[in-house]
Formats: sequence, C-alpha cells, structure tokens
Amino acid sequence: MCGIIGYVGPRLAVPILLEGLKAQEYRGYDSAGIAVLENDMIRLIRAQGKISALEERIGGEVGTATVGIGHTRWATHGRPSDINSHPHLDCKSEIAMVHNGIIENYQELRDWLIERGHVFASQTDTETLPHLVEHYYNGDLLAAMMQTVARLEGSYATVALCKHDPRRLVAARRDNPLIIGIGEGEYFFASDMAALIQYTRNMLVLQNGDIALIDEEKGVSVYNDGKPVTRETIYIDWDKDAAQKGGYEHFMLKEIHEQPWALGQTLRGRIAADERDIELKELDFSTEYLRSINNIAIVACGTAYHAGLVGKKAMESMLRIPVEVDIASEFQYRDPIIDRHTLAIIISQSGETMDTLLALRECRKRGAKIVAICNVLDSTISREADYVLYTWAGPEIAVASTKAYITQLMVLYMLTFYLARRMGMKSGDELQPLISQLYRLPEKVGQVLDSCETEIEQAAQQLKDWSDVFFIGRGYDYSVALEGALKLKEISYIHAEAYAAGELKHGTIALIEPGIPVIALATQPAMHPRMVSNIVELKARDAHVIGLSFGGCQDVMEVCDQTLVLPDIDPLLSPMLSVVPLQLLAYYAAVARGCEVDQPRNLAKSVTVL
Ligand code: AGP
Repeated sequence: MCGIIGYVGPRLAVPILLEGLKAQEYRGYDSAGIAVLENDMIRLIRAQGKISALEERIGGEVGTATVGIGHTRWATHGRPSDINSHPHLDCKSEIAMVHNGIIENYQELRDWLIERGHVFASQTDTETLPHLVEHYYNGDLLAAMMQTVARLEGSYATVALCKHDPRRLVAARRDNPLIIGIGEGEYFFASDMAALIQYTRNMLVLQNGDIALIDEEKGVSVYNDGKPVTRETIYIDWDKDAAQKGGYEHFMLKEIHEQPWALGQTLRGRIAADERDIELKELDFSTEYLRSINNIAIVACGTAYHAGLVGKKAMESMLRIPVEVDIASEFQYRDPIIDRHTLAIIISQSGETMDTLLALRECRKRGAKIVAICNVLDSTISREADYVLYTWAGPEIAVASTKAYITQLMVLYMLTFYLARRMGMKSGDELQPLISQLYRLPEKVGQVLDSCETEIEQAAQQLKDWSDVFFIGRGYDYSVALEGALKLKEISYIHAEAYAAGELKHGTIALIEPGIPVIALATQPAMHPRMVSNIVELKARDAHVIGLSFGGCQDVMEVCDQTLVLPDIDPLLSPMLSVVPLQLLAYYAAVARGCEVDQPRNLAKSVTVL
C-alpha cells in the first residue's frame, strides 16, 4: 500500500503535502514525490528513498503553489527509483496523478496507449492513468476520470491534478482507501486519516466505485456509477498517533484486521475466471522442467518457516513429491540433498533475513531453481531468486508477523495448485472446489475476525498470569500451533510451547499441572478421535483446555473448557482461518500484560545479521 495526499485551498501546498506524506510514511517508504501547480505549470519533484530524501530535493523551495498532490510509495510494479516514483505525468505534462493499488490490465492499456502515440517513462502500472485521462480529456477532468476508471481492472485510489483545472482535484477509489478532509475553505485527499488530523477532523470516506470532484469554490461532489451520491461527513476525534494506526491501539491489531484486504490483494489477478486454475504470470516453468522436479526444498526463518510447514503438507498431499522444510540457520550445516532437480522455495517477508539469504545462495550453488515468496519488492532475496511471487500485504510494521504469514500461506496454496495442474496431478474439476474456497478466504477471515475477537479477548485474560502455555495439534494444526506459540511468546513474553498432540505423552505431559492453559487445535476431522483422547488426557490432569475447531465439532466441545468455532472450510485450507484466533490471543494477552506489542523487547523486524 502507499500513501496519497492532495490539497487545494488558500495555504501553501508544499509544506502541507510534505507533512501529510510524513504522517503516512509507514504506508510505504521506498520513494516519494509531489506535483504542484505553479505559474500555470506542473512542478514535479520526486526522490527515491524516504520522505527526507524528497525534502532534501525540495530544499526549502516551497514556492507559491496552493494546490497539489503527493505520494509515498510501496513499490508493486517497477523497482524503487526516481523515475518510478509518483506522481506520474501525461505526455504534455498537463496532468499529474498518484495511485495506490494494482492496475491488473495495465500492460494491455499501456500497449493501447502506445499505439495511439503515448510515450511512457516508467515501468509502473500507475503511469497508464495520466495517459488515459489525457486521452479522454476534452476540458472536463471529471468526465475524463470517469471514462478512465471504466477501463481499469484491479484496485486503485487515485487523485488527478490538471493545469487546465487549477482549483480542482478529481479522485477515484476501488478497494484501496481514500479520504476527503473538509477544512475552512480548503480541502484534502489522503489514504488515511493520520495525514489530515492536523488540519481538519471533518472527514468523508469514499466508497468503492466513488469518483470525487473537489472544487475550491463549490466544495465536494461524489458520483458512483455516473450518478451523484451523498457521503456522510464524520468527525474524527482520534489523536494523530491513533490515526496512523487507523484507530487501532497498535499496528499489530491493525495488521491483523488488514488480513482480508491483504489476501484480496494477494489473490488479485491470480485466480482463473472459471476458478479451475491458478495463473502465476511470474513463472515460466517448461513441462520438461516440471517433469524433472523430484524434490522441493522450503527454507525460511520464524513465522515464514511456519508458513513453509503448511506449504509442505499441502504440496506433498497434492504433488506426491518429497518436500523438506528447513530452518535457514540450520540448513547450511546439513549438507542438504539439493541439485538441479530441486525446486527451492525461499520465504521471507522482509526479503533481507541474512540466514535465509545464505540458504538461497546455497541452493543456487547446488543447482536448484529458486522461487522466492517476499513482501518487499526489490528486496535482496527477491532480487537474487530466479522467480518471485510477491505477497501484496503492504508494509508490515509490527515486529510480530501476521498479514505476511497469512499471505505467504495464500501464495503457497496457489503455487501448490498451479504445480498440481501443470504436473498433471490434479484436473481443473478436482481443483475447482479448493480454488473457489481460496477465492472466498478474505471474506471467511473477515467472518472469523467479526465472530471471535470478543471471546478471544476474554480468553486471553486466562493466559495473562501464567508463565507457561501449551499449544497442541496434529497435521496442519501442529504447524499452526507452532505459529501460535511463537506469536504468544514473542509479544507477551509468556513461555509457550507447541507440541504434536500425539507426542505430549512422551514426556512433556509431565509439565501439565492444574489450571495450566492448553490451546488445542482440532480442525482436522480425520484426527478428531485422537485429538479428543489427547484433550481428555489433559483434562484428567486438570489443565484448562481452549479448543479451536469447526462447526459441528460436538466431540471437541464436550471435552474442552471452551471452544472457539471457525467457519467451515476444507481441512487442507484450515490454517488460513485457525491462525487468526491465535494471533488475536497473543495480542490480547500481551496487552493484558502491558507489553510493548509493536516493538517487543530484544526483537527487530528484520534480522539481517547471522
Ligand atoms: C515473526 O513474528 C517474527 N518476528 C520472526 O520470526 C520473522 O518471521 C523472521 O525473523 C523471518 O523474517 P522474514 O520473513 O522477514 O525473513
């Protein structure tokens, strides 16, 4: 995601645009830029790097402009550079636009525009926007924007500035946020309220499909589907810090709640229209190569490693080839059996984890083809891999990884289905039920968030005073239990252990004492009888067992002290839902213990040392 700002009013625009971008820098920080109208010309200043680099380039030259737009970028198409920074211009430098989102059909539009004489300067999907508006512009910027967005597929929040309309700004929104701030004779656009709180608390939140015109004299007009609509102005009483977190107390909670959006962005353009295949344009494996793969190596650290464990199970069950998952820091010591018949999958949110980078290089040295799953465009690991499948989760600020994990799972499932189809292991008919459920996962995750947060906040109160908590599960549930335990320990400092439920009786059950909290994941119907036995063993020692299962799990509910019930989904996809309550549980336990949730002690967001 990126940060957008726009201003029209009596005050100097440059300082307002810069302050607005700084308040949204966490939304993207690989480049930034502004465009203002001055002396009947568009003045464009852009710089790679943080907003401080842009400020340096402006060098205090605030000028006289009182209308402009700005953008701080989280790159999706086109590596971070001056030329790929927003705002982007049309051919005649009369229209400037900023954009947050992904224009899926940008290549087709770009080709169409080039055929009509347009010249592009960048590799971005965004640059198609000012050229499209230019194509349709005949003196009416609003009409040109309406015709432009009618051509777009994908997600966008975009704002246009035009030298022929000096006291107006026009914007459009689909699937990415865009706010209008209404001041005293002045108006603002922004991606989130954090940027506007310092100027006004009267805000108007644009809805999907809205196109908005701000006219300094006439005020705000909003249209949807070509017709005028009314959007309610709301009064925001948050402080600035709260606004950066979208009103949430911590970035971690905000990012947990962003998961439906992040999944939607990650799915976008990758599900075939008939839901019988996955389209990963980033991959160009030949049939011959696919036939030559005889093992898969997944390597990662921490949460990314836990995602890899889920990927292993899905891939082995559908591809019927051996999949090894290694902790990157161990990988280099075990002389791994990797060669040109190995497909290596390197998972890293930051794309900078040194242990994981060294593992990538080890795989390369041994002849493997390398697919990276990263969340940061142009990161070191994404650059050194042969292929990159990005998770479009947007910047993950909290040290505890949540939306990155769930989108890593999404990419691993999509890669599994993609390979299963092309390796002839599954037909479109066999994949359709799974792909159809994958496509609706953003909605299901939203249901989990809506249905269980209060119950989990209460359940967390039962953990907060314990120094040890156990997570148990079998199969996929064991992999997710490992992630749940990591979440809890890294932000609440409660010692948490995840155990394969069947392994408990081989020693660890000695640690179970009356009242100790045990989180029992039981989402795999085939394993219910044994899971129920494990829970009964724990209850016989007076543990306090919180179950996690799907509807109809009477057998589990009867033996647990309480059970969190998830929406039904194919057991193969259950990790996509079962992890969400565990993220919330860790969060509320940490809050209850007064911990520094977003920056836990001793930890860093990206571990670039060995
Ligand atoms: C996740 O909650 C942790 N903060 C940590 O384990 C993290 O997943 C690990 O350091 C790997 O980071 P990466 O995905 O950026 O490589």
